[in-house]
Amino acid sequence: MSQKRRAMISALGRFVPPKVVTNDDLAKVIDTNNEWILDRTGISERHVVEPGTPTSELAAQALGDLLQKKGMEPDEIELIIVATVTPDMFFPATACIVQNKVRATRAWGFDVSAACSGFLYALTVGTQFIQSGAHSKVVVIGADVMSSIVDYQDRTTCVLFGDGAGAVLLEPSDNDAFGILDFKHEIDGSGAQFLYMPGGGSLNPSSHETVEKKMHYVHQDGQPVFKYAVRKMGEVSRAILERNGYSGDDIDLFIAHQANLRIINAASEKLGLPASKVVKNINKFGNTTAATIPLAIGDAVDDGRLKKGNLVLFAAVGAGYTVGSVLSRWAF
Ligand code: UT7
Repeated sequence: MSQKRRAMISALGRFVPPKVVTNDDLAKVIDTNNEWILDRTGISERHVVEPGTPTSELAAQALGDLLQKKGMEPDEIELIIVATVTPDMFFPATACIVQNKVRATRAWGFDVSAACSGFLYALTVGTQFIQSGAHSKVVVIGADVMSSIVDYQDRTTCVLFGDGAGAVLLEPSDNDAFGILDFKHEIDGSGAQFLYMPGGGSLNPSSHETVEKKMHYVHQDGQPVFKYAVRKMGEVSRAILERNGYSGDDIDLFIAHQANLRIINAASEKLGLPASKVVKNINKFGNTTAATIPLAIGDAVDDGRLKKGNLVLFAAVGAGYTVGSVLSRWAF
């Protein structure tokens, strides 16, 4: 077996569709208002695609941005992992469609389904291929077109979500102190009943009835998900820090899944983190599911808060339930 080596994120690309939907825009079509949305979620606006734009398009745009920034050719990519709950189709995998769109002629790939934890799960999977020595250039993409599965007549869900994509490149780290240090993930299927899309799968194949009953949309019982997310994001973050000999004081930056500002604030308070160490961009993107963390990484790089050598903690909780955390010493 090849010797274990450390993986590092060495490049990043992003894409959000240009169309912006504000809280006031939504208030014109459903019974809601800017104050409620901002107060309960921290969201002001979100980006959404023109109808018919698939997730692969956003993912390919994000990957194109990455390739351009890195100065890398698509045929250098060895593996593409796409995290999404809004694949273009059940099959083929969105990774295959992205591979063809960017002409990554030497890559193989597959999709990962872990909802809001999808990016971190895919990052962990990609890391294993670097650590094992199997691959040296792995692309991990988090991409979702949530507007394709949200019921815009349901005010309890449609205000929450947006569309977007982010891509990172994983490569071997030339310095063992830098890169992905550890991960800790959990699933708890007892939470499946609180956040799910019931229609279109093998349980409820698509039919006139499933569409009439709006089973092809996101269904969420927000409060149990909220409570679980607050508890678990704190728990998993503390656990991964402790087992690596760190405390909240050692963290330079906390980048959490952006589902609700109150969840991020509660988790960061539990870790004793000042606001300056917490990345929050839910205000402008809403919950883009698998894309929130790479979009937040991008903002942290842009505003100069994420720098080489920083200890970064990533955390997410989502449908499943899925729980994820990744600890990294930022490498570029
Ligand atoms: O990323 C995947 C994981 N998902 C999450 O992490 C989401 C977790 N849950 C949440 O973030 C929150 O539960 C929500 C933001 C979804 C809801 O916030 P909440 O504080 O739990 O509100 P609620 O569901 O208890 O609703 C409170 C009230 C209700 O009215 P009544 O029954 O008190 O009269 C709702 O009908 O707010 C009402 N409401 C709204 N009012 C205006 C619900 N949605 C809206 C809305 N505009 N959009």
